[in-house]
Amino acid sequence: MIGSGPAPVELAGMSLAGPVLVAAGCGGTGPELAPYLPDEGLAVLGGFVTRSITLNPRAGDHRPLVVETPSGLLHAAGLPSPGLEPFLATELPWLARSGTRVVVSITGSTLGEHAELARRLGRAPGLSAIEVPVSGEPFHAASLVSAVARDLPRGVPVLAKIRPDLLRVVETARAVLDAGAGAVVVGDALPAALPDGRPAGLSGPAIRPVALRCVTEVRAALPDAPVVGGGGIMTADDARSFLAAGAVAVQVGTALLHDPTTAAHLAAELASTRPAPQEDTAP
Ligand SMILES: Cc1cc2nc3c(=O)[nH]c(=O)nc-3n(C[C@H](O)[C@H](O)[C@H](O)COP(=O)(O)O)c2cc1C
Repeated sequence: MIGSGPAPVELAGMSLAGPVLVAAGCGGTGPELAPYLPDEGLAVLGGFVTRSITLNPRAGDHRPLVVETPSGLLHAAGLPSPGLEPFLATELPWLARSGTRVVVSITGSTLGEHAELARRLGRAPGLSAIEVPVSGEPFHAASLVSAVARDLPRGVPVLAKIRPDLLRVVETARAVLDAGAGAVVVGDALPAALPDGRPAGLSGPAIRPVALRCVTEVRAALPDAPVVGGGGIMTADDARSFLAAGAVAVQVGTALLHDPTTAAHLAAELASTRPAPQEDTAP
């Protein structure tokens, strides 16, 4: 039997309207996606992850930032950021009214910057969770997560976003969960370089098999770990592979830059093929 309407998903103590989230940095500030969604807008999605917000404005690199490759996108590191204040004044209030779960991604250069971002965002109306991208040694990742978790009110979970690096993914997932992360997001861009040698992240279909393997390994080693999967998801079947590997939800990024209707299509397709609740057939 086929169910209809999105199936709610439980993630880190939150109830999401469905399993499809917009990945950080790939849905603009929110309103840009609205024309490509049905009347309910972002509410058809499980959640919207903002681009990574810094405490202070950051000029960034204004040379070309996104380069297409045969099977994915390269985006340069060090994107410009307006800082926290304009985000709190305009972007967050719009997202808070949009009816979806708002996950604010944060980044900074020090533990103190992360902690201050957590303190100031934690009580902002409309915030559901904080996502923090982590890289490097697992113990560094763990200290970042505990600095953020310590400064958040109870009930606001930290989602630790880790790279699909097979050599470290299980150890990092274990470390961040022990440090207080409510879930791990497995599927950040892979470290790469632009043709001119600048550091960049590689996203899109090129990384999907790698990210899927990482989700599988994390779930095998940590069967109870709440995992959000992502990396190169373009179709509903791609999303189903991650869900079948044990992810409770998925993030969609690069696909939206090719076709911004993808998030809504995936949400609708997954909802229309989900198994209907079992009828009580007991005698
Ligand atoms: C243009 C662009 C901007 C991105 N900005 C961010 C960001 O601000 N913070 C972050 O954590 N990830 C960022 N990402 C990474 C995505 O959120 C996602 O994890 C990654 O691209 C892998 O998923 P995908 O293959 O579906 O895009 C960005 C990706 C792209 C392509």
